[in-house]
Amino acid sequence: MSSIGNHLISAGQLSEKEIRSLFAAAKAFSGPASRGETVPLLQGKTVVNLFFEASTRTRSSFEVATRKLGGGLMAFATSSSSVAKGETLIDTAKNIVAMGPHCLVVRHSSAGSPEFLTRNVSIPVINAGDGFHEHPTQGLLDAYTIEEKLGSVSGKRVVIVGDIAHSRVARSNILVLRKLGARVAVCGPPTLLPPHPQALGVDFSYRLETLLPDADVVMALRIQLERQNRMQVPSVAEYSQYWGINRERAQLLKKGAIILHPGPVNRGVELDPEVADGPNSVILDQVFNGVLIRMAVLASVCNPEGLKAWLQTARS
Ligand code: CP
Repeated sequence: MSSIGNHLISAGQLSEKEIRSLFAAAKAFSGPASRGETVPLLQGKTVVNLFFEASTRTRSSFEVATRKLGGGLMAFATSSSSVAKGETLIDTAKNIVAMGPHCLVVRHSSAGSPEFLTRNVSIPVINAGDGFHEHPTQGLLDAYTIEEKLGSVSGKRVVIVGDIAHSRVARSNILVLRKLGARVAVCGPPTLLPPHPQALGVDFSYRLETLLPDADVVMALRIQLERQNRMQVPSVAEYSQYWGINRERAQLLKKGAIILHPGPVNRGVELDPEVADGPNSVILDQVFNGVLIRMAVLASVCNPEGLKAWLQTARS
């Protein structure tokens, strides 16, 4: 077991060996998790979900992961906290840490907030999504899902389509997938791709049809209207017409190709409902795997020695 250190801020901080260790732990947790058994690696420890932005999947799966590891939870809702009275991020975090929890899971609309907290609090910090920057556990769970479904990430053509410029999911995925040897391509309207996509180490095209026949994996991203100063495509309908995955485009995929989406899905925009719910879609597998990956990350930062010992026992 290779430890990932005290904090998880960026997928870029992880070596291939560390990613592989997290995947091995996630796989080992899948048996107990699906049988409803607790693995008591966080017993006596408290995890705080410090979410300053809306979330369904990430927040809930960190909660489920904490419970499955026997840990306690301190929930935090911005709207009913003193943040609503003007308290700063650092004061809020310091006051919560003074109550003695063991880990902060942080989501914030400002890129860099979780990293900033690592310099100001004495407990592990996990980035659960910070603005345009990163969403490392999403990148990990997506790559884990690809390995689970296709056997390996190495050599696979992964096409990420959508709002690459504003997407923390794309950034973390590119970092993890390239480290594991995937051939990544990005696609979307010119206004939603970064100015030099090649600088990310990926191929790109503005036309989805040119990429789909070679794709093993298509990852559709949500159109993030909340992160754009103004609408950067003429209309949602036009986005859907050129970059949405509908039945005709799904038919260009080779047999066995899979479709991912980090959620929440704008049905009829990024994915037609029949594609989102169709045979190529692994969206709900991503959600289940999110619990396993978050168990692996929480155990790795909060109790690395305990995790190592448990994995040895689980293997024997
Ligand atoms: N994938 C993801 O981050 O979803 P939530 O915003 O619901 O957490």
